[in-house]
Amino acid sequence: MVKTAILVSGGGTNLQAIIDAHARGDIKNCELAAVISSKPDAYALTRAELAGISTYVIDRKQYADSTGFSADIHKLLTKLDIELVALAGFMYVLDAPLVNAFENRIINIHPALIPAFCGVGFYGLRVHERVLEYGVKITGATAHFCTAGADEGPIILQQSVEVREDDTPQSLQRRVMEEAEWHILPRAISLYCERRLEVEGRRVRIRGEL
Ligand code: GAR
Repeated sequence: MVKTAILVSGGGTNLQAIIDAHARGDIKNCELAAVISSKPDAYALTRAELAGISTYVIDRKQYADSTGFSADIHKLLTKLDIELVALAGFMYVLDAPLVNAFENRIINIHPALIPAFCGVGFYGLRVHERVLEYGVKITGATAHFCTAGADEGPIILQQSVEVREDDTPQSLQRRVMEEAEWHILPRAISLYCERRLEVEGRRVRIRGEL
């Protein structure tokens, strides 16, 4: 079983998708060992408690900069003997020492089709606001491994979603979650835990049929 920690900052609908997929048996060879929140009042913590998963808070507001914050997350992951980390609505970029120690072992979900609408400043609802401002007809979500640069790591899975004429940032965010994020993040975690991902440079090859 791959010991997995989920990092969250907010409502935790992606965490819920992971919990539900795991309960259905759709995430194989995976132990959901910990949920770590950067905010003490994140609803994601309640979701984890209801599912019987151990919860931890490392409050970003208690740190002057990202160095100590990342280092404390790193210490906790090491103490818990975590192999795989999933960022499920986690709103911070982790520092290089942590990302490098967990090379190809941190999976992030981003609510757009990388390399569009990503990088510093593109998170949460802002992504969908920019998508609508720009006028693209198709957006989506990307599950990718993390490197030190924001949203730059090797891409595991992507799913496209149509942008509608009457979309608001909120309606688009919801559809991207429902049609893309909640499917590809649990799927990417399972593929990792089943040892079916092979990373060659920027390319992630998936062994066997999807
Ligand atoms: C999700 O749309 C997720 O992709 C996005 O924030 C939302 C969190 O929702 N993450 C980022 O923008 C990270 N760069 P959730 O807490 O309900 O899963």
